[in-house]
Amino acid sequence: MNKKIMVSFELNGKETDVVVEPRELLIHTLREKCLHTGPHIGCETSHCGACTVDFNGMSVKSCTLLTVQAEGATVMTVEGLAQMAQGGGLHALQEAFMQEHGLQCGFCTPGMLMRAWRLLQENPDPTEEEIRYWMAGNLCRCTGYQNIVKAVQYAARKLRGETVETSHPLMTAAAH
Ligand code: FES
Ligand code: FES
Repeated sequence: MNKKIMVSFELNGKETDVVVEPRELLIHTLREKCLHTGPHIGCETSHCGACTVDFNGMSVKSCTLLTVQAEGATVMTVEGLAQMAQGGGLHALQEAFMQEHGLQCGFCTPGMLMRAWRLLQENPDPTEEEIRYWMAGNLCRCTGYQNIVKAVQYAARKLRGETVETSHPLMTAAAH
């Protein structure tokens, strides 16, 4: 029988202790023990990116890490992104995905948001090509990606303090 191990890490700003088997994947710990169900399980084979979280300042697919590797780490999930929203509203990225219709079923969205968040931390003014390259490890079966790219551009503008306006025809019509 596998001996269980205590692992301590910071999750969305809170010290968190969990007891896990050595073989447990971080995505399972986050969802089942920490009850952070934002990160999704799409493939468990590192292909889809639905499980993406920020881990010690890097984007990581949390199905590729053992929880024991998180000892002492700083982990942020999409729940942490939501906590960063000013005044209880939406974070710029959440607003952007809504305004630009960057999602349909939403299954890929938590991973997309976290991957985009790390991009904008490192490059606040990415080109379309840079966005597409950066997001290439996150798969979406619904949107065709165009609106995801537009959403990242919208969030980048908003986070830089520039005026933002949706380019989506439905949202533009709703505003009039
Ligand atoms: Fe982790 Fe698909 S569930 S990459
Ligand atoms: Fe459905 Fe991306 S919105 S998988």
